[in-house]
Amino acid sequence: MNMNIACISGDGIGPEIVAEAKKVLDKVSSVYGHEISYTDVLMGGCSIDVNGVPLTDETIEICKNSDAVLMGSIGGNTSTSPWYKLEPSKRPEAGLLKLRKSLNLFANLRPAVLYPQLRGACPLKEEISAAGFDMLIMRELTGGLYFGERKTYEENGMMKAVDTLTYTEEEIRRIAVKGFEIAKVRRGKVTSVDKANVLDSSRLWRKIVNEVAEDYPDVEVEHMLVDNCAMQLVKDPAQFDVILTENMFGDILSDEASMVTGSIGMLASASMNDTSFGLYEPSHGSAPDIAGLNVANPLATIISAAMMLKYSFGLHTESEAIEKAISSVLDQGYRTGDIMSEGMKKVSCSEMGDLVVANIK
Ligand code: IPM
Ligand code: MG
Repeated sequence: MNMNIACISGDGIGPEIVAEAKKVLDKVSSVYGHEISYTDVLMGGCSIDVNGVPLTDETIEICKNSDAVLMGSIGGNTSTSPWYKLEPSKRPEAGLLKLRKSLNLFANLRPAVLYPQLRGACPLKEEISAAGFDMLIMRELTGGLYFGERKTYEENGMMKAVDTLTYTEEEIRRIAVKGFEIAKVRRGKVTSVDKANVLDSSRLWRKIVNEVAEDYPDVEVEHMLVDNCAMQLVKDPAQFDVILTENMFGDILSDEASMVTGSIGMLASASMNDTSFGLYEPSHGSAPDIAGLNVANPLATIISAAMMLKYSFGLHTESEAIEKAISSVLDQGYRTGDIMSEGMKKVSCSEMGDLVVANIK
């Protein structure tokens, strides 16, 4: 198969982790007889430095004309980086949001899995982590507070700021369908998370999710308020299969879910439109404090690349080969600093990439 990938290395640790994911993809392609070509494009702070804006039309076009997009991370230190002196619409994150919207990537899949080898890094009590967990957060990505009208203005001598949380029936329906479809091939349970005791947008969310649920009689559906969900994630994470939720709740809950797996350095993501096209990136940020030190954990990006093979190219065996290689490397006791525990062997970002490459069979 020929795979034509647009590659956004981005800022901070982005270039380091993407380099490792590329090494792994190249190895898989050579073992299984595929051709991969990469087109490097700028987005985020690095694009601001070169083009004055975080995302150019050229980058959007190249992404649109590729089969999938592989991304590292974007952004810098929000207190010290000059990028954050620019007006909000010119900052690195605005580029990412515009790219998600331009490519219509409304479905964001964030799997949070407790690897048995990393149980020691899980911050939860042993009686909780012993049960293990394997959940997938299906986060709506192109609506809600992130894309509603916003403004800051002065009224009667007082500053006022407004953000708007809007969802249409159609936006809710299409993400709900994605959630139920994936639950069908997982453990058959959808937990739809909202704040229906307060928000109108959540009451509509719940109504539409219930309507979609009627088409999936084999999938169990439950509704959970977001504050309760935040609590349940640390109390009993094993209860979750698919968590279906809106943009902002999904942003927050996915960071929480990743932390209970031991490290945000393990959390991959796929952002899809309604075709097989997707953008694949780790859920973590650009970690400017450790950029360039070769100590970042590249596994979330490597797992994202595995998701790309599966979801955009239907290459299940190849995707599993990467997952198995990661598992073997962890079995052999290799850890980057973020998932290090006593008795294990600490390795750098590039050593971790090399180890995964060496374990691909
Ligand atoms: C994420 C990030 C982004 C988001 C930021 C960088 C805009 O936190 O992908 O979770 O909030 O969606
Ligand atoms: Mg986030």
